[in-house]
Amino acid sequence: MDSKIILVTGASDGIGKETAMTLAKQGHTIIIHGRNKQKLQAVYNDIKAETGNTNIDMFTADFLSFAEIKRFADTIKQKYDRLDILVNNAGAQFTDKRETTIDGHEKTMMINVFAPFLLTTLLLDLLKKSPSARVVTVSSASHKMGGKPDLNDIELKNNYTMSRAYGFSKLYVIWVMRHFITETKKAGINNITFNCVHPASTQTNLARESSSSLRFRIIMFLWKPMLISLAKGAKSSIEAGVSPKLEGVTGKYFGPKGEEKVSDKYYSTQNEQIIWDYCLKVTEDYR
Ligand SMILES: NC(=O)c1ccc[n+]([C@@H]2O[C@H](COP(=O)([O-])OP(=O)(O)OC[C@H]3O[C@@H](n4cnc5c(N)ncnc54)[C@H](OP(=O)(O)O)[C@@H]3O)[C@@H](O)[C@H]2O)c1
Repeated sequence: MDSKIILVTGASDGIGKETAMTLAKQGHTIIIHGRNKQKLQAVYNDIKAETGNTNIDMFTADFLSFAEIKRFADTIKQKYDRLDILVNNAGAQFTDKRETTIDGHEKTMMINVFAPFLLTTLLLDLLKKSPSARVVTVSSASHKMGGKPDLNDIELKNNYTMSRAYGFSKLYVIWVMRHFITETKKAGINNITFNCVHPASTQTNLARESSSSLRFRIIMFLWKPMLISLAKGAKSSIEAGVSPKLEGVTGKYFGPKGEEKVSDKYYSTQNEQIIWDYCLKVTEDYR
């Protein structure tokens, strides 16, 4: 397998860390991202020690801030002259109390939709320089949940719950990644594929904030025996990132057992465009 330059966001824990570790073992250059410098440094040390791969790099940025995402992308662009694979893995679930970021955006939408949108947009120049680039975005089977999204209220100012926000965010990010295909084609860019994956329910710390409610803790306790290992959870991201069988494949959605169907219940090209335009609007000052 050729050696690739791969950026994995949210690699300081869980599925992202496992993804980065496995790809490092395969000999690729791995750029790991996290928000906590100490935690990321420990992962950096672990990856180097466990894989013997010296081509590991690390950068921190809080994806709840557009300015931080822009600074992060600029740093990557200064240091690297191409990027082969971007794994948009960083993601989060919050609580049943709606919270906003310093930019005034609902936090779930920010980290799960606006952050991967902005980062991918800002890194297109580097991805364009790869002979064959892939953008892999970690969605979730939860994109099928949450009921009917209200596209006049994307950031859930009304009827917010943690699970609706998380489910819709993972649906919208699939639409956004599909739309990148349209936009890159329009711009004459033909070397980048965009696929989404879901890990399936995996043993991670994803519920660290959402599990503050008793109801959620009970659900998590009952659900625990169903959780899969990190190795299984990272499988779809790794396959979509480097499998030679998926060369040139775009616009798909993969789970640990291969391609799956996205719920298209609320999909239309018009709805996709609404989410895309919204992402453009909220990131206007940072692109
Ligand atoms: N676990 C599951 O069952 C499951 C199922 C479906 C989809 N997913 C998706 O899989 C992806 C990885 O999640 P995981 O389960 O591995 O959870 P995790 O263990 O909590 O890892 C999430 C990663 O994202 C980073 N992150 C969180 N908030 C951030 C912020 N504001 N700025 C920058 N980085 C931030 C975390 O950093 P810290 O280390 O600092 O917290 C961590 O590196 C997410 O997109 C999640 O939605 C997970």
